[in-house]
Formats: sequence, structure tokens, C-alpha cells
Amino acid sequence: MKEKINIGLIFGGPSAEHEISLISAKNIYQAIDKELYNIYLIGVTRQGDWHFCPEPSFLPKKAGQDVPDIKDHGEPLLLKLGKSENNLFKENGAPLKIDVFFPIIHGTCGEDGTLQGVLKLMCKPYVGPNTLGSAVGMDKDIMKRILIQAGIKTAKYTSVVKNDLGHIHYEEIIKQLGTTLFIKPSNSGSSIGVSRVETHEEFNNALNHAFEFDNKLIIEEGINGRELECAVMGNDNPKASQIGEITPTGHAFYSYESKYLDKKGAELKIPAELDEKTKNSIRKIAIDTFKILNCEGLARVDVFLTKDQQIYVNEINTLPGFTSISMYPSLWKASGIEYKNLITELIEYAIKRFNRDKKLKIIQ
Ligand SMILES: Nc1ncnc2c1ncn2[C@@H]1O[C@H](COP(=O)(O)OP(=O)(O)O)[C@@H](O)[C@H]1O
Ligand SMILES: [Mg+2]
Repeated sequence: MKEKINIGLIFGGPSAEHEISLISAKNIYQAIDKELYNIYLIGVTRQGDWHFCPEPSFLPKKAGQDVPDIKDHGEPLLLKLGKSENNLFKENGAPLKIDVFFPIIHGTCGEDGTLQGVLKLMCKPYVGPNTLGSAVGMDKDIMKRILIQAGIKTAKYTSVVKNDLGHIHYEEIIKQLGTTLFIKPSNSGSSIGVSRVETHEEFNNALNHAFEFDNKLIIEEGINGRELECAVMGNDNPKASQIGEITPTGHAFYSYESKYLDKKGAELKIPAELDEKTKNSIRKIAIDTFKILNCEGLARVDVFLTKDQQIYVNEINTLPGFTSISMYPSLWKASGIEYKNLITELIEYAIKRFNRDKKLKIIQ
């Protein structure tokens, strides 16, 4: 019998989506093919400490329950970098023999290349985009510069840093971008720090609010269109899923409140009602975006579709939510790939990439 592969599922972390990450971990733990894999739970506290959690039962199944503290359910892990067979150790010195890592930490330090850098230094395969793809995908300003250069349509925008505060003139901005604006931290997620702005006063408040979360912001023209999402998976020849649609209900846009707090804050429709031609155009744009932003493994590409059929890329999410009802797995389910098989495919892509890159000559 083939030996089982040991998967290290890394979850939690300091982001606002800590709870979602715990639920994703629970779902992956339950669904993963136990004939192929042994799964080890590696929880990262909100403070950034790594713990081995032997028992999965503490993980919440759905949002809105009490969020457990990882450190009450695990023992601290020590990390060793380099090519040795073992990289993680319990406090008593016993190694945790991980073959492949599956990081499922959203936002800062999980989705921005930081964690991917650590896993690369550990010389182990891992699921999802590499350091560069993750970092580029996380910074909306850098992402947009690359998309524009590649001829992929994205909302017109300007980026500003804190130092510019005294020199940002509302009148000039609306002349350039129109009167409905979106102001966002360049590095963020879950709509945190994002505001829709229609007046000078809102503009000033939105700048101050967004600067609480990042030193760099983007100010974008508002796009009046449908919000559509497409899942992408693969390495050298990535494939795209069915398209899903999000319609915020009772909210001016898909805000933090409509995403997480208001149960009826948004409607999800999978697959979205679209003609074949538009579906294919969105799939192609999603794959082009994935490739041009240096992504491999997985990502979700979010776009706007306007009434005159223009497709604007809004953003890429390199570690999207992974609960069984999250958009990413749901899009693959609608495309004929069940959650359990999706996990297997993603792990296989991680191993294939690692073996491919191992053959490269690296000058040391
Ligand atoms: N330029 C825009 N035009 C219209 N709506 C926007 C625009 N930018 C963002 N939004 C709305 O704000 C939400 C959050 O913005 P997004 O860029 O996706 O940030 P996050 O990375 O936090 O999800 C989007 O889902 C959409 O509803
Ligand atoms: Mg978004």
C-alpha cells in the first residue's frame, strides 16, 4: 500500500478572517481523503504563535459561535528552517513530519507572501501561490499596475501614501475619476477600511479611515456593474470554473457588514445567469489575470460586468475562504469537482510544482 502523505494544515492567524480560517480548517479536516493523507492541525494564534492541535473537535463548524483560543487547544511548536526532513518540533523535541503544507490563513501574514516565504525556507511543497504571486495579489496598487501594463481592464485609480495627505485635492480627484469613488487600503481584505464616497466630507473621512489600516491607499472610480467571481486552479495550464454572482442586499456595496455580520447581507448565485460568450470572456480574463500576477495553485478572480458588457478585474484573492459554503469550493462543485477531490487536486498541484522547481539550477 502507498504510504500516506502528511499534510500540515496551517490556520488561524492575525487577520479579521481568523474565525473563517478556523471554519475552513474544520471543513478541510473533515473532507480530506483519509486514504491518501494524514492531517496535522497547525493553529496560529492571533498573536502569531504556532501550535500543534491534536484534537480537531474545538474548531467551530459555522460562523457566529464562540471563537476558541488556539493556545487552549494546542501545544507550542518550534520551527526549524532548511532542508532537513523535519521542520516542526513539539516542545518535548518530537518532530512533526510534514510532507506538504496547506496554508489557509487569510490576509496579512497569511495571504501576502510572508507565510509562503517561511514555507519555502522550510523547503517543503505548499498549496497556493508562491511568495511573489501572493504579495502582488495582496497589494491592490501593485496588482493594478501589472494588470494595466498587460492590457487587462481595471477601474481607473490613483494611489496615495500618508505623506501625500496635505496634497490630495478632492476637486482634482473627481475631475479625473468621477463623483462616485471607492477608497481602500492597498493591502487589506474582507472590505475592511473600504468606503464608497460621494461627497467631499465622506472623502475626507474615508481617507482617514483607510489610513488606519495601511500607509498606502487606492482611490478608484466607482464601477456600476454586476459582481462576478471565478475560481482558477493549476500551475502551467490553469483552468477556470463556473462563474458565481454576488448581489449585496440592503447595503451600498459588498461591505464587511454584508459579508459577515448581516446574514441576509448578500445573495450568492452559482452559476450566474450569463450567456456563454460572456462566461467564456470572464474565464479567459480570470486565467490571464492569474498568470500575469504570477499565481499558481489556486486563486479567485473577482470582476465587475457593466451593462455594456465591459469586464473590469476588481481583485484577485490568493487564499480565498474555504468553508464548504465558500465561493471558491462552491464554484468548483458547480463545475463538477467535489470538495474532497478539490483538496486532493490542490495538494497534487503543490507537489508537482515543488518537483518541477527542484530541477532548476539555483546558483548558491
Ligand atoms: N471600483 C469599485 N466600484 C464599485 N464597487 C466597488 C469598487 N471597488 C470595490 N467595490 C465594492 O467594495 C467591495 C470590497 O472591495 P474589494 O476591492 O473587493 O476589497 P476586499 O479586498 O477588501 O474584498 C467589493 O466587493 C465591491 O462590492
Ligand atoms: Mg473583495
